Amino acid sequence: MALGIPGIEDAMASSRDRYWLDTNSHASARLNLQHFWNQLSCGYLIHPDIPVATNAKVADVGTGTGLWPISLSTTLPPSVQLHGFDISDAQFPPKNWLPENVNMDTWNALNPAPEHLIGQYDVVNIRYFGLVVRKDNFDGLLRNLVSLLKPGGFLQWTEINIPEQEILSGQPGSPATATSAFSEDGMETIATLGVNFDWLRNLPEIFHDFGLTGARQFRPKPLAALRPMSSYLAIGGWEEFSYNVLDKRGPHPILGTGQELRQRLHEVRKEIQAGAAIEQLHYVTVGRHPAEEA
Ligand SMILES: C[S@@+](CC[C@H](N)C(=O)[O-])C[C@H]1O[C@@H](n2cnc3c(N)ncnc32)[C@H](O)[C@@H]1O
Repeated sequence: MALGIPGIEDAMASSRDRYWLDTNSHASARLNLQHFWNQLSCGYLIHPDIPVATNAKVADVGTGTGLWPISLSTTLPPSVQLHGFDISDAQFPPKNWLPENVNMDTWNALNPAPEHLIGQYDVVNIRYFGLVVRKDNFDGLLRNLVSLLKPGGFLQWTEINIPEQEILSGQPGSPATATSAFSEDGMETIATLGVNFDWLRNLPEIFHDFGLTGARQFRPKPLAALRPMSSYLAIGGWEEFSYNVLDKRGPHPILGTGQELRQRLHEVRKEIQAGAAIEQLHYVTVGRHPAEEA
């Protein structure tokens, strides 16, 4: 849907501007906590169906702070090579502090991969990239991800289904009115800006369309005790949106100015402190590049 707001719409055109969240210290802290939430919710970083050989090469696309490859490196033999890619290096740790088998480089995953990366990886991981996906970049992104795989390599895509989020009350009578109203407006807002997650449930079929085999989707049961954590993560993401999109590019007809959104989030936070929650489910989709004929 066109908004007719030049500030927001023009700025949404480039890949960098399509990332709504921040890359500052708050954003890095949120991503690192989100990693912990992901690991506890799923119980794994790489789905157990994906074997990782001692000489494997693993890529993480949209790596952010790089915590996925860094954490994984502590559980795998040092002979496994892990490579994080991101459009921006703003959240990478200093190169000389990375484990010896972990590297990080910049790459805009909406552009074709550099030649030397094509067909190099046994595992390609992408996590929490849904806010970057649009109708006009989805096919190109998937083609680029698949292009990194060796024959027989695995693609794993972990996402939360944001529009399916549920608002819960932890205690009988604890209010969730502001949280529910905000959730509805938030979902409507992201739809007006061209983001939907309709593709997520269909990702196994889409993987097949892109030549992957045996695609499966897993939806780990959320841990109820992590609901406050996931709720604060969601608020943190919206706060970044308020600074990074609304303050910089102008108000949105549904959420208003950055300051108005932050005021609203203050009310949501009070309800969460009193026992409300924003529950979001993880979807982990795994598919395999066909192995070469012997
Ligand atoms: C929500 S963060 C997730 C970070 C990481 N995957 C994690 O799970 O902690 C999304 C990441 O995608 C990166 N990103 C956004 N657009 C990108 C693009 N076109 N190509 C590569 N990375 C991109 C952002 O810079 C950000 O680090």
